[in-house]
Amino acid sequence: MPLVSDFPVEKPVLVTCGLPYANGRCHIGHLRTYVPADIFVRTLRKQGQEVVFVCGSDTHGTPIVMNAEELGILPGELVEMYHAHFDEIFRRMGVEFDYFGTTDAPSNHHRTLQIVEALIEAGHVYPRRIELAYCPRCDRFLPDRYVEGRCPYCGVRARGDECDQGCGKHLEPGEIRDPVCKICGREAEYRTQEHFFFRLSRFKDFLLQYLPGLRGTSNARNYAIEWVNQELRDWCITRNMEWGVSFPGHEGLVVYVWVDAPIGYISFTEEWAKRTGGDWEAIWRGDSRIIHFIGLDIVYHHCIFWPAILKGAGYTVPWAVVASGMVKIEDKKFSKSRGYIVWVDEDYLAHGFHPDLLRYYLASYTSHTKELNFSWKIFQEKVNKELVGSLGNFLYRTTLFAYKNFKEVPMAAVSSEVMDRIGQAIDEFTESIGGYEFKRAVDSAMTLSDFGNTYFQSMEPWKLVKTNREACAGVIKDCLQIAKALIVLFDPVMPGLMEVAWRDLGLRESVHTVSYDEALVELEGGRPILKPEILFNKIDDEKIEEMERILSKRIIEAVEKEMKNKKDGEERGRSDSITLDEFERLDLRIGTVKEATSIKGSEKLLKLTVDLGETIPRVIVAGIREHYTPEELLERQVLVVANMEPAKLFGVESQGMLLATENGVLLEPDEPVKNGVKVK
Ligand code: MSP
Ligand code: ZN
Repeated sequence: MPLVSDFPVEKPVLVTCGLPYANGRCHIGHLRTYVPADIFVRTLRKQGQEVVFVCGSDTHGTPIVMNAEELGILPGELVEMYHAHFDEIFRRMGVEFDYFGTTDAPSNHHRTLQIVEALIEAGHVYPRRIELAYCPRCDRFLPDRYVEGRCPYCGVRARGDECDQGCGKHLEPGEIRDPVCKICGREAEYRTQEHFFFRLSRFKDFLLQYLPGLRGTSNARNYAIEWVNQELRDWCITRNMEWGVSFPGHEGLVVYVWVDAPIGYISFTEEWAKRTGGDWEAIWRGDSRIIHFIGLDIVYHHCIFWPAILKGAGYTVPWAVVASGMVKIEDKKFSKSRGYIVWVDEDYLAHGFHPDLLRYYLASYTSHTKELNFSWKIFQEKVNKELVGSLGNFLYRTTLFAYKNFKEVPMAAVSSEVMDRIGQAIDEFTESIGGYEFKRAVDSAMTLSDFGNTYFQSMEPWKLVKTNREACAGVIKDCLQIAKALIVLFDPVMPGLMEVAWRDLGLRESVHTVSYDEALVELEGGRPILKPEILFNKIDDEKIEEMERILSKRIIEAVEKEMKNKKDGEERGRSDSITLDEFERLDLRIGTVKEATSIKGSEKLLKLTVDLGETIPRVIVAGIREHYTPEELLERQVLVVANMEPAKLFGVESQGMLLATENGVLLEPDEPVKNGVKVK
């Protein structure tokens, strides 16, 4: 689906990005959603397409509340902090949204309420009493991450909302087995409560007709069709929480975060419209093109759940879903807890790397739907070979040569071969972007850069300038035109550096606002050329080793932390928690002491015969001689562990254990009971 045929269109176009959870800092994995989307929008605009580009913070859900509780702050304070963080990172990374909002804004509460009410009105929501994990000790229901247990599908330990360690399935409220409260660590029980469900199953026919025509990347479409063909289960869309968008008419219930989060796409468009006089309804209720950029992990929500909600509430459904493959670090699965993570601020920007280098890496490493491996060595290689070696080299040598020898753009005409090459590169670039093939787009621009270098090298202008100045002017004009085209082509990918290169060419209007057609417009002869700056610098081995050391250190620390947590957990498990099952294995009974004698050689032990209501009384050795004389014990009732493994003490086999305090004071029933009665 090439851009050239799909865009520009008369219809309004909206591009959105998966909303970052305002629950942690921005890492390189996130950027694979935002950077390609930003490149896409910038390219579309260069094609003369008007685009609205919105995003915002996802502020609700249990992890945010739990995280805030742990830090001793309010959820609102936590999300405000991370909202500001993402906003800043996006600005520094050149990701320029027209509006970056938050899902806790009044406009999003309002839009969510309106949509939920519309769904209720249309009969797409129904109440159902379900069994939910409830902690009697904390006296509360345990939504999503507040509970842990066993996955009902694969049996592995899982979080309440997702089998994250096992089969990966999304878990609906009440599905988790053997629930344990995450707040106090006790076993939870099931209690019934009324919740509200979205009749997703009703949208099967709609989805089967809608999905084959959904544009974007085929991975999103294909996964979604497969899922719809398997089974569509209704979604529980309410949760027992305070933080979130209140479910209408029900105290203590909020809508599930995955309802109000995508609705943010609408409310952010409304906010944008409020500020610009734009028309949000033309986008969300009219004939438009809504394009969602996301990662592969949230395809289900965007291709199944979200279109069904929109359809059910009478809104325009997405035109395209563009899903990237996931990002890995040094060929290992991305993981905060295992240390395989690269933070955008601390691990990248703070070390002085230009944002555009990372943008280039993300766009050009591999095809958008494949996994992307971030490795410092590959980063170094790509920067040094491709950006310094080819693009930077060409731009610099061309501009510097022109500056030194002509001081201005030569008056000569650009050769038709060069113009053809440029035209070809533009076509390939835009077509590739239209097919969400960011790597192919960058490759086609790089091919033009390689061509430029070969051309410059083979024409030897440094010789020509001495022998045939006019011919040299022609060559340099060609090269400058290629440089101009390269800057325009690469502008969506590396907007910061291309702006600098553009100015060096003596061009004043911002490169961001010129269209692709401009690349084919001949540079005006006689324009002054400035002394160029070096845009790209080689990254040396020491720097990369330093970066690798930082990463390894983090991985080692993560492993150590993991081991410590595990040990702490085990210790806690030993000292203060046993399951009910474990407790019930104890056979505790009351008996009466019938005989008591001292044991030769021991100052602490007494040998007792205890009647537990069995035919033969038990012989039990007990360490209570310091507190009691044998006579004192006769006919007293005592508490006995009756299934204690027999043990020999001073030659006497003890067939049970007498319970006493640690300093040897006996426990006895409040009133006489039958021998052998069980204690529970
Ligand atoms: N809040 C949800 C999205 C709600 S959309 C209505 C969410 N947040 S996130 O912070 O986890 O991710 C934000 C974006 O970054 C998503 O598009 C997600 O797919 C993407 N990525 C987060 N980690 C990623 C990788 N390791 N690799 C690739 N993309 C990943 O999901
Ligand atoms: Zn609890």
